Amino acid sequence: MKKRKLTIIANWKANPDTLGNARTLFRSIKIAVKKLVGVEVFVCPPFVYLHELSKISKTHKLSLGAQGVSLFEGGAHTGEISPAMLSSAGVSVILIGHSEQREQGESDKNINEKIKLALKYGFRVVLCVGEKVRDRDGEYFRVVKEQLQKDLKGVARGRVENIMIAYEPIWAIGAHAKHADTPENFVEMSIFIRKVLNELYSKQHALGATILYGGSVNDKNAESFLLCRETQGFLIGRASLDGGKFKEILTLAHILR
Ligand code: 13P
Repeated sequence: MKKRKLTIIANWKANPDTLGNARTLFRSIKIAVKKLVGVEVFVCPPFVYLHELSKISKTHKLSLGAQGVSLFEGGAHTGEISPAMLSSAGVSVILIGHSEQREQGESDKNINEKIKLALKYGFRVVLCVGEKVRDRDGEYFRVVKEQLQKDLKGVARGRVENIMIAYEPIWAIGAHAKHADTPENFVEMSIFIRKVLNELYSKQHALGATILYGGSVNDKNAESFLLCRETQGFLIGRASLDGGKFKEILTLAHILR
């Protein structure tokens, strides 16, 4: 069977508490990626750790990502982190549209502007989409379609290949989630996302897109997702903070790709 290329992204969110712990965790991941073949790994730490971790990151298999980017290229914008700053910190990928930021009021319009800005600066983008509830009438498909339509509005064809889509159903994210989504549902949603990308761009773009799953991925359920050939990788929160569990997921990806 032809091997896939898999993408595994660690989203550390507001963790860990200290730079020392961030370094320790990052170093353990750096060791874990050494033996991997065909698996690209990104770690998205809090902004303040990026520069320090970039000194440790010296392998093409392990790259740094940012958990967001400013709408602005620089100037008088208190508290903002510009794309140029992220470049200088060694970042290659940026998460945009995460549900935890949408929850804080980030609009699709802002997400759209951020995507265009990030692409302009040469970053790869992980666009996060996903519904709050899984209703019986399939309304959640409409929610995801609308997010994709609005977030990708006016994004040039030539740049779309630098965007990965992470499907993260909100009900499956975080400590309050009862469980992850099922691989079967994820396959269905992947097909649906490709259908929307076909409408927005082309069949080639739709088939070429990288679609990741996120939401309570752990060392126990990763295998069932990876056994589906449609799974191209994960965006992982909690389990990426545990060096042992994350390593286990990476090993599974290496074996089952
Ligand atoms: P958990 O893996 O902790 O559910 O978080 C998922 C997520 O939001 C990754 O971006």
